[in-house]
Amino acid sequence: MTRASLDKQPADVAAMFDGTAERYDLMNTLMTGGQDRRWRREVVRAIGARPGERILDLAAGTGTSSVPFAEAGADTVACDFSLGMLRVGVRRQAGVAGLRFVAGDALRLPFADGSFDAVTISFGLRNVADTALALRELRRVTRPGGRLLICEVSHPPNAVLALGHKAHLRYGLPLLARVSSNPDSYHYLAESTLAWPDQAGLARLIQDAGWDGVRWRDLTFGVVALHHAVNPVVKPS
Ligand SMILES: C[S@@+](CC[C@H](N)C(=O)[O-])C[C@H]1O[C@@H](n2cnc3c(N)ncnc32)[C@H](O)[C@@H]1O
Repeated sequence: MTRASLDKQPADVAAMFDGTAERYDLMNTLMTGGQDRRWRREVVRAIGARPGERILDLAAGTGTSSVPFAEAGADTVACDFSLGMLRVGVRRQAGVAGLRFVAGDALRLPFADGSFDAVTISFGLRNVADTALALRELRRVTRPGGRLLICEVSHPPNAVLALGHKAHLRYGLPLLARVSSNPDSYHYLAESTLAWPDQAGLARLIQDAGWDGVRWRDLTFGVVALHHAVNPVVKPS
């Protein structure tokens, strides 16, 4: 299997997820000890999708993160650049009304300006080669006043927990990798999490991309964080 490195070459990242697509959801649950389900419930609550809204779930993979928005009655687009993930998603979520899978790159989204009421990305932004550009693209396709929700791995603010978390990433995950049938995913998760900005650092990137009202909430002691923001409404002068 292709192993993506920290320069996150799009072809390597897409190939890595193509290779893991069939087992992705199961691996996710195993790697997070089942916490992923709770995190997803928090994302759904935070987005507050309403019937008739248009929602983009970027880097949606197999669509597991997208289904609840469609089930809430929103017109939902699950977009990803891994055709392997999309194929599994189309098959697994075949009966879900209001959910559409679209192939597209976060750095050049195939949607018109202001197409969505809300945009969200779960465990995807960390994998994109240019975070700032992806945040600007997300803003471009969001209507003025529309909302952004990012669910991503992060760093516990408590110093003791932070040490334990780093030790788990540096030594625990590589150990798990040794007994896993998919060691590259464990190594990549560890490396990419260690290199990812903390909550305040990501908030600055979001703000620099032009979003307003940036705030975040920690989940599981900050191992994961939800960042919220709003696309400003520019008033005519
Ligand atoms: C860890 S998975 C997350 C999938 C899903 N959001 C979830 O929560 O289960 C990350 C996804 O990001 C996608 N991805 C990474 N870079 C991307 C890009 N530049 N454009 C679109 N998708 C991208 C990968 O193909 C992969 O499916």
